[in-house]
Amino acid sequence: MDAVQDRPSDRPSVHIEATGVEKRYGGVRALRGVDLSIRRGEVHALVGENGAGKSTLGKILAGSVSADGGRILVNGRPVRYRRPSDARKDGIAIIDQELATLSHRTVLENVFLGSHHARLGMVSRRQQFEDFDRLVEEYGFSGLDPRAIAGDLRVADQQRVEILRALARSSELIVMDEPTAPLSRREVEQLHGVIRSLKAQGTSIVFVSHFLDEVLEITDTVTVMKDGQRVRTSATADETKDSLVLGMLGRSLDSVFPEKRVAHTGDTVLAVEGLSRQGVLKDVGFTVRAGEIVGLGGLVGSGRTETLRAVFGADAVDAGTIAVAGKPVTHRSPADAMKNGLALVPESRKSQGLLMGRSIHENIVLPALGRISPGGIIRSRRESQRIEEMIRELGIKLGRSTDPVSTLSGGNQQKVAIAKWLVDVPRLLMIDEPTRGVDIGAKASIYKVLRALADEGMAILLVSSELEELLGLSDRVYVMSRGRLVEEFTGDLESQEEAVLTAAFA
Ligand SMILES: Nc1ncnc2c1ncn2[C@@H]1O[C@H](COP(=O)(O)OP(=O)(O)OP(=O)(O)O)[C@@H](O)[C@H]1O
Ligand SMILES: [Mg+2]
Repeated sequence: MDAVQDRPSDRPSVHIEATGVEKRYGGVRALRGVDLSIRRGEVHALVGENGAGKSTLGKILAGSVSADGGRILVNGRPVRYRRPSDARKDGIAIIDQELATLSHRTVLENVFLGSHHARLGMVSRRQQFEDFDRLVEEYGFSGLDPRAIAGDLRVADQQRVEILRALARSSELIVMDEPTAPLSRREVEQLHGVIRSLKAQGTSIVFVSHFLDEVLEITDTVTVMKDGQRVRTSATADETKDSLVLGMLGRSLDSVFPEKRVAHTGDTVLAVEGLSRQGVLKDVGFTVRAGEIVGLGGLVGSGRTETLRAVFGADAVDAGTIAVAGKPVTHRSPADAMKNGLALVPESRKSQGLLMGRSIHENIVLPALGRISPGGIIRSRRESQRIEEMIRELGIKLGRSTDPVSTLSGGNQQKVAIAKWLVDVPRLLMIDEPTRGVDIGAKASIYKVLRALADEGMAILLVSSELEELLGLSDRVYVMSRGRLVEEFTGDLESQEEAVLTAAFA
C-alpha cells in the first residue's frame, strides 16, 4: 500500500502544534487566533455550534484551505500547506464534511485516487482490487462493490468510500469531519471499530461531530470551539454532555424536544394505500393527519426515502393510491405534488437540495418562484418577511443573504435546505433526516419550528435514522423493513426503543 510505511518511534509525541491560527472569509472571521495541540495517536474531538470554525480548522490542517496567519508545526517542523497534496506528503488526510467522491468514477478509482501507486500508473487493476479487498477485510468494511459507480451509491456508502480513501493512503493523521452523520447505527459501530484500530496503530485522529454521546465515547481529548475561538481543551473523561453543551452554546439546554400534543383529531391530510414499486416498496399504506408529526423508522435502505419520493412524484410507482385531504391524486412529478400542497426536504442537500453557487436568498425563494408573477423576481412583502422570519427562527448564521450558499457552514446549509420549503406553507411537509450535521442548539430550534408548524395544522412526515430524534419528535411512528411497513407505534414512544429497533431488523 501507499506511502508512509515505517513509523519511527522517535517521532515527537506532539503530532501537530498550531498557534494563533487566523482565517478570514471576506468580513467573516472564521478563526481567531486558535491554538491547538494534537498528540500522536490520540483521538481529538472538535465540537462547537454550526459555524464555529471546526471544518475551517480541519481543512487548514489538511491543506485544503490556507491560513491567513499563525504557525503550524507537524512533527516539530513548521509547515505551510498550499494544497491537500502538500499535507498528504506528511501523511495527513481529510474526510470532508461535504463528500468529495468523484461521482462518475468507480468505487475502486475513488478509493485509490491520488494514492502513490495510482499516480505512477504502474500498478495493475488486479493489484488495486487485491488492495481493496485487503483494506475492506482489515477494517471490516464489507458490502461495497469496487466496480460500482460512486455517484449511484447512497450517501452512507459514499461516506465509506471516503473513509477507505484515507485508509488506503496509510495516513498518520486523519481529519474526520462529521464522518458518522450519514451512517446507520451499525455503520457507526463499524467506524468506531476502525477508529480504535487506527489508534492502536498510532494514527492520530481529529474527529468533528455533533453527536456528543459519540464524542464522549470514542475520543481522548476534546476541544470546544465557539465563534472562531478555542474555548477550552480537556480530557474527554472530564467532560459531560451538559458541560460540552454549555461550552458550545454558552447556555444549557434543559429539553431538546418540544412537548408533544396529547390528542390528534385533525383531518387526514395524506392517505397512502398499497404503494408498490418493483424491488423497492411493497404494499405500503399509512396516514398522516393535520397537526401530527409521523415518523418513518427503519434501517438505511428499508424504503423510507423511497416512500417519500414516491408520494412526492419523484419516482414512479407500479401500484397504489394516494389521497391528499380526501381527494385521490396522481403525482407524475414533484411539480404536481407541490401544487397539491406537498413539500419534500431531501436527505442530500448537496445533490438534491441546494444550488451551491446561488445565493442564500435565491435558494430559499426557489420553490416559491413557480407561483410568483412573471419575471419571477417580484416577491410580495409577505414572502420577504417570511424569509427573514425563517432565517431568524432557524438561527441561520450568515453574513449577507446575498452570499452564495456554499459560503455557509455545513449545518447552516442544512437549515437553508429546510427554510426553502417553508416559505409557502405546505399542507404536508416530508422531511428526510432533518438535522444531519446540525448542532445541538440548532437541532432544538428545528424541532421547535417543526412542532410549531404542526400545531398550526401542518402534517409532517419525518424520516430519521437517529432513534432519539425519531422517538423524541414524532407523535406516531411506522417502522419499515425491506420495503414494507412492518409495525406502527403509538403512545409513549420513548419507552419503546427496543421494540422499534427489533421491528427495524424484521
Ligand atoms: N468558503 C467560504 N467562504 C466564505 N465563508 C466561509 C467559507 N467557509 C466557511 N465560511 C464561514 O466561516 C465560518 C466557519 O465555518 P466552518 O465551516 O468552519 O464552521 P463549522 O464549525 O464547521 O460549522 P458546521 O458545524 O455547521 O459544519 C462560518 O461563518 C462560515 O460561514
Ligand atoms: Mg463543518
